Amino acid sequence: MGLLVGSIDEGTSSARFSIFKVGTSEIVASHQMEIKRIHPNDGWTEQDPFELLNSVKKCIKIATEKLVDSGGNVKDIVAIGVTNQRESTIVWDKYTGMPLYNSIVWLDVRTAPLLDSLLEKTPDSNMDKNYLRHICGLPMSPYFSAIKLKWLKDNIPAVQEAIENDRCFFGTVDSWLIWNLTGGVNGGVHITDVSNASRTMLMNIATFKWDKELLTYFDLPDSILPEIRSSSEIYGYFSEGPLEGIPLAGCLGDQQSALVGQQCLKSGQAKATYGTGCFLLYNTGTTMVDSRHGLLTTVAYQMGPNEPPVYALEGSVAVAGAALSWLRDNLTVLSDFDQAQKLAEEAESENGGEVYFVPAFSGLYAPYWQPDARGIICGITLDTKKGHIIRAALEAVCFQTRDILQAMNRDYGKETLSVLQVDGGMTANTLLMQLQADLAGVTVVRPNMAECTSLGAAMVAAAAVGHWDLKGPPIDIPSRVWTPKITDEQRVFKSSKWKMAVERSLGWTL
Ligand code: G3P
Repeated sequence: MGLLVGSIDEGTSSARFSIFKVGTSEIVASHQMEIKRIHPNDGWTEQDPFELLNSVKKCIKIATEKLVDSGGNVKDIVAIGVTNQRESTIVWDKYTGMPLYNSIVWLDVRTAPLLDSLLEKTPDSNMDKNYLRHICGLPMSPYFSAIKLKWLKDNIPAVQEAIENDRCFFGTVDSWLIWNLTGGVNGGVHITDVSNASRTMLMNIATFKWDKELLTYFDLPDSILPEIRSSSEIYGYFSEGPLEGIPLAGCLGDQQSALVGQQCLKSGQAKATYGTGCFLLYNTGTTMVDSRHGLLTTVAYQMGPNEPPVYALEGSVAVAGAALSWLRDNLTVLSDFDQAQKLAEEAESENGGEVYFVPAFSGLYAPYWQPDARGIICGITLDTKKGHIIRAALEAVCFQTRDILQAMNRDYGKETLSVLQVDGGMTANTLLMQLQADLAGVTVVRPNMAECTSLGAAMVAAAAVGHWDLKGPPIDIPSRVWTPKITDEQRVFKSSKWKMAVERSLGWTL
């Protein structure tokens, strides 16, 4: 089989461990498990940190067994990379290894009132969401870790006590996993990488260090923070289990990892990953582009401690696949995701009104950044069937992607982006791919290998131990292409209807 490299992908909906042949996109063994989400209150989303860790361990165990069953050897694995759902916030006792609270997941909106009270205290009290953007590249939003961490410190006595007694560690999911997998209380390394750190709202986007002004603003101590490292270097070694002794050598937030896996390593290249949410990243090279149109300035990756960090502009959509999950689990109009395409295609040939669905379950992210927006379905008539609503859910992802692409072109429009690389679970839906090409007016390119997120972490890990040349020619990944089939007039008309629906969803919780 030759040399191999492993990739842990701990996402919002599932954990996965994949083993790639070094230098290729070929997966020789993998295993995936669903992860539960807990909703203790309206708008709250939590996960059990031990479930995240144990699912990763189980995926590693089963995937390595599959590798051996198919004639492979674990000793051929040169390194492991980690990629993860970003922003989700975990605090634990560094002496016992016990979490002090559940992970507060990125899409949790419990901190909206806390955010308002912080904004009221900004100079001039003009509620300027962009007050800290010049330091961290991000607008104030419940999305990012700092505000979640502040909520934990202010509301959970165990967290306050652990901070006072110097027992507390904070980390995003990467830090929690890496600390545990490299030994935990017995010498685990407490680190994160620049791409994950850039999502906490505590890192200075120009110096790549934790920032004193941000820490003071949120009233958080620096003693609990992990060390910020590059995305591609040896952080430590697996302390036990089938991978014992193998270096953990790569770390990237999942969206940045997909950018790398899609080989968008040049300025001007962009990708969109359709998972629980949908995230577009546009590589801007070593230029830090300050968005004027509601995008985030983020770190894409740093390919080694001596390499310069590379930036991206990001457009984040909170709800993509999550809208289909809602239609399946809450409205029970879908039995599984495969059915979505069939029902939506059937609806196309039937009358049913012009249905628009804004799935702002936890507010709207880019380019609106409105935590007070809520979901809305409009345009329903007596003829509307479930297929029309499912189709509207698919179109909603495409319209939001169009909004973001327009913002990207305005912010960094050296040339209008005409090709979009896509990946993620939802891209198996070929109707969605055609709708995306139609509604955004771009060529959509989908690699036949869906696991670009896992591939990115595998690439940076293998590179750290000298087994992948990231500066060499891209590897060949066969792809399928969709081109727009509707006219500009049709696209503009539909988009203006979408904007009317968005207007109606704003300010709902006021
Ligand atoms: O920023 C949140 C993002 O990293 C979550 O990604 O794939 O778990 O929806 P995913």
